[in-house]
Amino acid sequence: MADNKPIGIFDSGFGGLTVFRRILERLPRYDYIYLGDNARTPYGNRSFETVLKFATQGVGHLFSLGCRLVVIACNTASAKALRTIQQAWLPRNYPGLRVLGVIRPTVESIRSFTKTNHVALWATPGTVRSESFAIEIAKYAPQVKLFQQACPMLVPLVEAGELEGPGVDCYINKYWDQTRAQSPDIDTLLLGCTHYPLLMPRLKALLPEGVRVVEQGLLVAPSLEDYLKRHPEIESALTRGGACRYLTTDQCQYFDELAEKFMGLKISSEKAEIAG
Ligand code: DGL
Repeated sequence: MADNKPIGIFDSGFGGLTVFRRILERLPRYDYIYLGDNARTPYGNRSFETVLKFATQGVGHLFSLGCRLVVIACNTASAKALRTIQQAWLPRNYPGLRVLGVIRPTVESIRSFTKTNHVALWATPGTVRSESFAIEIAKYAPQVKLFQQACPMLVPLVEAGELEGPGVDCYINKYWDQTRAQSPDIDTLLLGCTHYPLLMPRLKALLPEGVRVVEQGLLVAPSLEDYLKRHPEIESALTRGGACRYLTTDQCQYFDELAEKFMGLKISSEKAEIAG
């Protein structure tokens, strides 16, 4: 894949595969490199400076492997690092290359899901504290009222392989009660964290029927397609061999097991040593 110009997908760990699989379904012909920073996951409680440092290292690694365009699939990194990466780091270090996040494409499509305009967001504490979704909603969907709920226990549960059972149900019920207390008119729950779509079966079982649960990958994939149509100078530089490489900064076996267990993806990941 040495001469390939793939699309890079960066995440703090394996959760970004929930976004990547939707991108692959929609745009299967391009070459891709997925990089999960499992050695340093989770990012959800880390400081702005730390997330920025880790994200620039990850994106820089993907650029060094030939990627021309990187999608930061991680909401926490999109919330805390993307603006600085786009406005300062990229022009200084990699003018001509591009980095996209997941928050803006999500927010741009959210209006089509809600009738009441009362939308809940579940995300990591870091994403909620950053107010990034609220800032983007004010710009791109000002009629939507956003009710944010930090869900600190959901990533550890998913990472531990707990996708069902009393522990998961207890926390989903708890976070939903807290969310509903903010507004009884919420009709849409936006999953603003890469890991949460893995809890979809329990979310659908436990949340009231009238509440639509929105999976971000389904919004990010068409938005990426649209971006590539609007930017032929980027699109034409990408190679189309349909090849996928999976890199992790931690144990490959663990990554492969989780990818298979949760995504049904049989993959053989490679260890990445990224500049620390
Ligand atoms: N990828 C993160 C996100 O979407 C969740 C895991 C983490 O905290 O690193 O916010």
